[in-house]
Amino acid sequence: MIIIKNSEEIKKIKKASKIVAKVLDELRSYIKEGITTKTIELFIENLILKMGGIPAFKGYRGYPASVCISINSQVVHGIPSDKVYIESGDIVSIDVGVIFDGFYGDAAYTYGVGEVSEETQRLLKVTEESLYKGIEKAVVGNRIGDISEAIQNHVESNGFSVVRAFVGHGIGRSLHEDPQIPNFGKRGMGPKLKKGMTLAIEPMVNAGTHEVVMLSDGWTAVTKDGSLSAHFEHTIVITENEPEILTKL
Ligand code: MF3
Ligand code: CO
Repeated sequence: MIIIKNSEEIKKIKKASKIVAKVLDELRSYIKEGITTKTIELFIENLILKMGGIPAFKGYRGYPASVCISINSQVVHGIPSDKVYIESGDIVSIDVGVIFDGFYGDAAYTYGVGEVSEETQRLLKVTEESLYKGIEKAVVGNRIGDISEAIQNHVESNGFSVVRAFVGHGIGRSLHEDPQIPNFGKRGMGPKLKKGMTLAIEPMVNAGTHEVVMLSDGWTAVTKDGSLSAHFEHTIVITENEPEILTKL
């Protein structure tokens, strides 16, 4: 069941989302080579709490940390560690969720650190662009499949692949609500989009095969062929005009 939100509910999702946006913005200058992913997690956790939010992922289905930090061939759900140091040339995907007054906001960004190769920069650029191509389709009267196809087209026409194993989702009083939003599919298919739907759209894009495997920690998903993977996500609301990106400052 897809839950349509009223303006009071949207206000709270927006507040949670602005905290997420602020965190992702602060990380631009914070992430440097030589720091551990655990240090980044603590920085984020403090920032969220200072702004009056609650880190949404800690304890979610038993997830052991406040945020997901996935490096290079890690696709999603990497667990911060005091043994993993950021190095020049790494790409670091950071997925942040916040609860504010009972409502969730969720977004992700992939940061290139230091000297990142041109091909890797292209992966980041195409993945972020694909997110915006998907968001453009999030208008009243379209269907979920219009979002999915737009993302898939942009990614595959640039020679990269779309991860199938994880999808975007509705968001609100829960982190994951209906509908599921695959990053692959056909226009005209799936549920119709209506005003007041709040969605987390999140393409995960691999440089090589779309297949992923799970590490023995039970959380970290990595590319099957060891190729690089990028992840960008925004929480948006469907309005009578353009979609509004809530996780944007
Ligand atoms: N943004 C991620 C998602 O929508 C949240 C990570 S789930 C957690 O699936 F379990 F790691 F918290
Ligand atoms: Co999400």
